[in-house]
Amino acid sequence: MKTRITMLCENLVGKLVGSGEHGFSAFIETDKGDYLFDTGSGRSIVANSLILNKDLRSIRKIFLSHGHYDHTGGLSEVLKLKGKVDVHAHPHVFLDRIAVLKEEDREIKRFIGIHYKKRYLESLGAYFVFNTDFIEVEKGLFLTGEVPRHTTFEKPDPRLFSEMDGRTTHDLFLDDQSLILDTDRGMVLILGCAHSGMINIINHVINKMGKEKFHALLGGTHLDFLTPEQLEESINVLKKIEIEKIGVSHCTGMKAAFRLHQEFGDRFFYGCVGSVLEL
Ligand SMILES: [Fe+2]
Ligand SMILES: [Fe+2]
Repeated sequence: MKTRITMLCENLVGKLVGSGEHGFSAFIETDKGDYLFDTGSGRSIVANSLILNKDLRSIRKIFLSHGHYDHTGGLSEVLKLKGKVDVHAHPHVFLDRIAVLKEEDREIKRFIGIHYKKRYLESLGAYFVFNTDFIEVEKGLFLTGEVPRHTTFEKPDPRLFSEMDGRTTHDLFLDDQSLILDTDRGMVLILGCAHSGMINIINHVINKMGKEKFHALLGGTHLDFLTPEQLEESINVLKKIEIEKIGVSHCTGMKAAFRLHQEFGDRFFYGCVGSVLEL
């Protein structure tokens, strides 16, 4: 399977093309057709697709990693171009999401969930296909579904909340799912924000796929929002996994990206806007 994955939306620009935003989206080209994993926050997806020569009208399916605005915000713009298309997601993708942040001495609440009603997106052509379990969505393309939490060192981000049945609770992120491309050179794992924990996700993938060789790890790892101990424990486990390339970005953040580069050397690259993984 010939595959090319291009970072369409990302926090940083490093290739002198496109615009950065707080968000993530990857455009995936395969022999079977094109796919979109996440849609960024909506500010750059169309402009970046034009400058990077990726035709959003060609996509066969859209996959949403979770309901945060920085992964779902571009969905309406994509649908306006594409029209009818399957959108794969966990049913919790439509939950209301809140971040409680400290700014100077004040506590600020921000709505960070999906900005659209399901009915509106359906009127633009979205056909939602919900999954909670691990599934093969196309031959060689898999979604993780809900990820069991087994590691002791991966803790949820304490600033993030969701609302269900009128109750606000710490966000469990059952909707956090990642995409796997099963290629001849190993698995390519694309994370959204890895809210279930990067190592939990990798272990779940190894368990479900019955394979241990990863060609690449891409997307957001959320490592910058964790304690330094958690970052080091994650890196220690990552070092034991057979993984050729680490091209993470977005909520990985600078501190964690520098540590990964230090640890993995040439096997690490920062997945900025316009960076490409080809195999
Ligand atoms: Fe994110
Ligand atoms: Fe997120």
